[in-house]
Amino acid sequence: MKTLFKNIKELIQVRTEPVLFVAGNDMKTLPTIKNAYLLVENGLISDFGSMANCPPISNAKIIDASGKMILPAWCDSHTHIVYAGNREGEFVDRINGLSYEEIANRGGGILNTAKKLQETSEEDLYQQSKVRLKEIMQLGTGAVEIKSGYGLTLEAELKMLRVIKRLKENFPIEIKATFLGAHAIPSNFKNNKQGYLELLVNEVLPIISTEKLADFIDIFCEKGYFTVEDTEYILAAGKQYGLIPKIHVNQFNSIGGVQAGVKYQALSVDHLEVMTNEDIEILKATLTMPVALPSCSYFLSIPYTPARKMIAAGLPLALASDYNPGSTPSGNMNFVVATACIKMKITPEEAINAATINGAYAMGLEHEVGSISKGKIANLLLTKTIPSYGFIPYSFGNSQIEKVFLKGIEI
Ligand code: NIG
Ligand code: FE
Repeated sequence: MKTLFKNIKELIQVRTEPVLFVAGNDMKTLPTIKNAYLLVENGLISDFGSMANCPPISNAKIIDASGKMILPAWCDSHTHIVYAGNREGEFVDRINGLSYEEIANRGGGILNTAKKLQETSEEDLYQQSKVRLKEIMQLGTGAVEIKSGYGLTLEAELKMLRVIKRLKENFPIEIKATFLGAHAIPSNFKNNKQGYLELLVNEVLPIISTEKLADFIDIFCEKGYFTVEDTEYILAAGKQYGLIPKIHVNQFNSIGGVQAGVKYQALSVDHLEVMTNEDIEILKATLTMPVALPSCSYFLSIPYTPARKMIAAGLPLALASDYNPGSTPSGNMNFVVATACIKMKITPEEAINAATINGAYAMGLEHEVGSISKGKIANLLLTKTIPSYGFIPYSFGNSQIEKVFLKGIEI
């Protein structure tokens, strides 16, 4: 099956040389081809170039993209879209003055969602989560990472991971799974955190490994949740089972979690709302991707990741949604890109690099998605008629996407 996109006003994020990710000053560069064609064959990008060099192609479905642009679908490397119910009540509590931490300390927050998830059947959880997956696909996400972490018991964590596996089998979007058993300390282990960590390591991890239920291991390294020591314990155990570290760090406090991530060669360190000079320094010249979650900052009214300072230090940056019921009930990557430009003062070029190729890297998918390159999966966004790609973040809150193609097929 062939599809030829012709007369594309601008083909965005064209990479002819393979890149792992882009960092520092290079993030300002977004390679494009104006007045381009793009050929998709059997779900993969097979050719592209300037219209002047478009070869005659037979038996292809032709799509005329005059006035429109094509870019790689968004790569959302951090979500928690498998959950049950919602936390609208806590949203109103926060409007009325309670903080996210105060709500968590009263037994709300993650424990609230965990209770609901434990009571929800696997089938119901799948049905609820499927709706959100379809929603983000429509919004232009073509690859997504999904975490467990709202189970907090052996059974419920496995239930979440099995739902992720089923989503992966049934939808054309690329999915990576993360085991985040250490997301919060469940109430029955309130005075025995070590006991909970040992349950995760000695009982849950072996099953995850046998059933191949996860690619990554994650932990919420934060005051009131898990310490740096706990983080090292969990990351080391995960690595023994072949899971690659990816951690929640520096959301509210800088307690040394970034250093632990680097020490255990984490693929990414995520959140980073609070970053010291030492945190930035330690990430230099590593292969660990810093991931910012600006819609979480927006929803909780907490600081934004200091992206300008990090990019000036030569670091790369990825953008992700953090879609979850508590801190970010939205998986709209168009909003994430716009908010990063508006609030973190990064340019449209930097934001698009962060939400495509760098997001792909943060999921270990940089050879499959995240750029317009021959052989990559044809996960594409066809825009409406727009004057420039900068119009996508500029027109924040509006959708400039006309069509989404995953594996070359319009969804
Ligand atoms: O990434 N910070 C930790 N975990 C999630 C939020 C969890 C929740 O509130 O349900 C996050 O923001
Ligand atoms: Fe998160």
